[in-house]
Amino acid sequence: MTLEHKNVQDGKYHVFPKGFLWGAATSSHQVEGDNIHNDWWEWEQTGKVKESSGKACEHWTRFHEDFKLAKSLHHNSHRFSIEWSRIEPHEGEFSEAAISHYRQMIQSLRSVGLEPIITLHHFTLPLWLAKEGGWLSNRSPQLFGRYAQKVAESLGEGIRYWMTINEPEVYIFKSYLTGEWPPGEKAPEKVYKVASHLLKAHVFAYDAIQDTFQKLNRPPTQVGIAKHVAVFSPCSSSLWDRISVWLRNLMFNHLFIKALIKGRIFYPGFFRIQLPRMKTLDFIGLNYYTRDFVANKGFRTPGVFGDVCTSKHHSDVGKKNFLSWEIYPKGLFLLVKDFSRYHLPILISENGICTEHDEERWQFIHDHLKHLAKAIEEGAPVIGYLYWSLLDNFEWAEGFAPQFGLVEVDYKTQGRKIRPSAKAYAQVCKTGLLLKED
Ligand code: GAL
Repeated sequence: MTLEHKNVQDGKYHVFPKGFLWGAATSSHQVEGDNIHNDWWEWEQTGKVKESSGKACEHWTRFHEDFKLAKSLHHNSHRFSIEWSRIEPHEGEFSEAAISHYRQMIQSLRSVGLEPIITLHHFTLPLWLAKEGGWLSNRSPQLFGRYAQKVAESLGEGIRYWMTINEPEVYIFKSYLTGEWPPGEKAPEKVYKVASHLLKAHVFAYDAIQDTFQKLNRPPTQVGIAKHVAVFSPCSSSLWDRISVWLRNLMFNHLFIKALIKGRIFYPGFFRIQLPRMKTLDFIGLNYYTRDFVANKGFRTPGVFGDVCTSKHHSDVGKKNFLSWEIYPKGLFLLVKDFSRYHLPILISENGICTEHDEERWQFIHDHLKHLAKAIEEGAPVIGYLYWSLLDNFEWAEGFAPQFGLVEVDYKTQGRKIRPSAKAYAQVCKTGLLLKED
C-alpha cells in the first residue's frame, strides 16, 4: 500500500469523486485576439475602455500550445467559448473557415486528452446583431437558436457539455444598467426585454442542440447555463438589510435557474416571462468569486435591493483580490448546498482570483476546494471544478492588469510561464485528493 493510499484510508484527504472534471476556463474574446466582428471590438475602438483586446493572448493561433500546457497540469477538461461573430460574421452567412478552425481546436483538446466544454455566448455579440439592437431585437432568440444549431451540427459530435449563455444577469447589469459594457445603456426600462430574450435564447439553443443530437442519433449530451452567483450578507441585522439580502439572493442567484426549470418567471417588478418550453437545464454551471455586503436604509438607498456596502467596518472580514473583491471560500460551500435543491448536476464553471502574488492563488484554490469537498461529502451533486482562468487575459473594462491565470502571459512576447499555484492545483487534478489540514 502506498503512503497516499494509507493516508486516504486514515481520512487525511478530501477525496473527490471518480470522473470529476478538473480544468480551467477561458472565453473567446478574452484570449483569442483580433475578434474584429463583435460589439466589444467596436466598443474598444471608440476608447470606452482602458485597453483594447488587440491580439489578447493570441490563443487563436497558439491554442495547441496552451492545451498542451493544460494537459501538463493534469487537467482533464477545458471550458472555452465559440465566438458567434466568427462563426456568423454576416447575418445568415456561416464561415466554413471559422468552423473548421474551431474543429481543429476541439480535435487538439481531444488529442491531448481534455474534455471540451463549449460556451456559445460569453458577453460578445456579432456586430450585425448589435447594430440591430442586440438582445433587444425581437429576432435575437431565434437567431441565437439558429447559430446554436449550426454549431451543434458542425462541431457538436461527441461534445458532452454545453453552456448556452455566460452570466446573463452580469451582462444585463453591465450593459443595460451601469453602462460599462456595450451597448453602454443606463436603461432600467429595457432590462425586462433583454432578460426575457436571453432566457428565450437559452431555450432555443437548448432545443437546437438536443434536437440535433437526436436527429443525428448521437449519444446524449447535457446543456446548461453558466450562472454568476454571489453570497449576499446583510450589512447589519436591520430588517431592511435582511429583506434586501433575501431579494438579491432570489433575483440575482435563483430567478433565471427557476425560470429555466419551470418554463416561466415572475419578476419582483410584476413582470411575467413565459418561456417556449419547460425544463431546459440538464446541469447548472456556477461562476463564483465573491460576497457582497448589502445595506438598505429603507427607501433612501436605491430601491429594495439595497446597495453594496463597502464601508470600513467590513474591511476586516476577508482578504480582497486585485479588483477589491472579497475572498470568501466558505461561500462556495453555501452556494453549492443552496443550489443542490434543484437536484441537477452542478459544475463549478468559474472560480478564480486575480492577484499579483501567486501564493495567494494557491491559497484561494485550496480554500475553495476544501469547501467544495465538504459540500460534496454532504451529498451535493458536483461534477467538476474549472478554475478561471487558464491564462492571464483581457479582463473586459479592466484591461490586461488583473492576473487571473494559472499561466502567466507576457503580452510583449506572448511567452507563457506556468505559475507555482498551477503546479499545486495540478497535484489535486492528478490525484483527486486534497490534504485536509494543508
Ligand atoms: C466572470 C466572467 C469572465 C471573467 C471573470 C473574472 O464573471 O465570466 O469572463 O471576466 O468573471 O472577472
